[in-house]
Amino acid sequence: MNVLVTGGAGYIGSHACVELLNAGHSVVVADNLANANAECLRRVERITGKTLEFREMDLLDRAALNELFDTHRFDCVLHFAGLKAVGESVQQPLRYYNNNLGTTIHLCQTMAAHGVKKILFSSSATVYSPDNAMPVKESARTGGCTNPYGWTKYMSEQILTDTAKADPGWTVMLLRYFNPVGAHPSGLIGEDPRGIPNNLMPYISQTAAGRREKLSVFGGDYPTPDGTGVRDYLHVVDLARGHVAAMDYMAGHPGVHVFNLGTGRGYSVLDMVHAFEAATGKRVPYVIAPRRAGDVAEVYCDPAKAERELGWKAEYSLEDMCRDSWNWQSKNPNGFAAD
Ligand code: WQD
Repeated sequence: MNVLVTGGAGYIGSHACVELLNAGHSVVVADNLANANAECLRRVERITGKTLEFREMDLLDRAALNELFDTHRFDCVLHFAGLKAVGESVQQPLRYYNNNLGTTIHLCQTMAAHGVKKILFSSSATVYSPDNAMPVKESARTGGCTNPYGWTKYMSEQILTDTAKADPGWTVMLLRYFNPVGAHPSGLIGEDPRGIPNNLMPYISQTAAGRREKLSVFGGDYPTPDGTGVRDYLHVVDLARGHVAAMDYMAGHPGVHVFNLGTGRGYSVLDMVHAFEAATGKRVPYVIAPRRAGDVAEVYCDPAKAERELGWKAEYSLEDMCRDSWNWQSKNPNGFAAD
């Protein structure tokens, strides 16, 4: 299929491009490089031995979006583009609502105008209400998001759901990610956060590399086995492969479909630290620090629906996630920036 990948130069989007190209699809990437580097796409081509088309553009630019659809015939769209820093979204809510909702609305309007009505949306576990019982199923309560970033994912899901309700010609896949970590085993692409990493695994990797003095463990007094936060970490390559499975599922399944993409297994922050040290032989010094505002004690999913209906199940282990994170970090101490 001819696939448009918005945000395809980013962490998850680029790994999805690898799997799409490996599966024989043709790929066009639209990315404004606000939080990505074009070098990443050159490496995607190196990994796969295939080529993709890259358009540096902003999805808020309606003229550019129209021109893109006027000059291509897309079979479906994978929509990754969006701002995604939880803390930043609390500081800059209007920027997040304008960007994340505006891009989704412009994209869908342009898709509809060109008869393209298949979309996979990069959603997040943050759309689930914080008070759900674990493990979280797709039928669990949503809303009550603890930050504007989470609300933009929740509202984008609603926009797509209402679009499909108004026009049954649409097929919408809402893919709710839990905690993607790791990197392609080649070590050529991986997570390249700008500035101080918000997320746990890049912070662990940078600490192991000596770029950070020590890890602050946000909270040691949660009601969890070792007192630290528990999350459902999954390898980014498993996540990317989930998108190919979801794309295959779309044929013959119009309407809106929701899937959790996770392992169904929760690991604590200290589990991650110890697993990383065991897998890499590197030390990760840490201190127990106060809880981070907005965090919950534990979040992990029930992945049974994706396994049953998509035939997809996460296969990489925690050791693989840690080993591949370190492989990327150690080979690319400055990320994609030229050495
Ligand atoms: C994981 C655990 C922290 C950093 C968020 C978004 C989600 C997705 C992934 C974008 C928690 C602890 C973290 C650190 C720590 N983002 N931690 N020290 O918050 O579960 O999910 O990122 O798509 O949508 O909500 O991920 O990696 O920030 O935190 O102790 O320096 O690690 O308290 O328990 P989170 P995270």
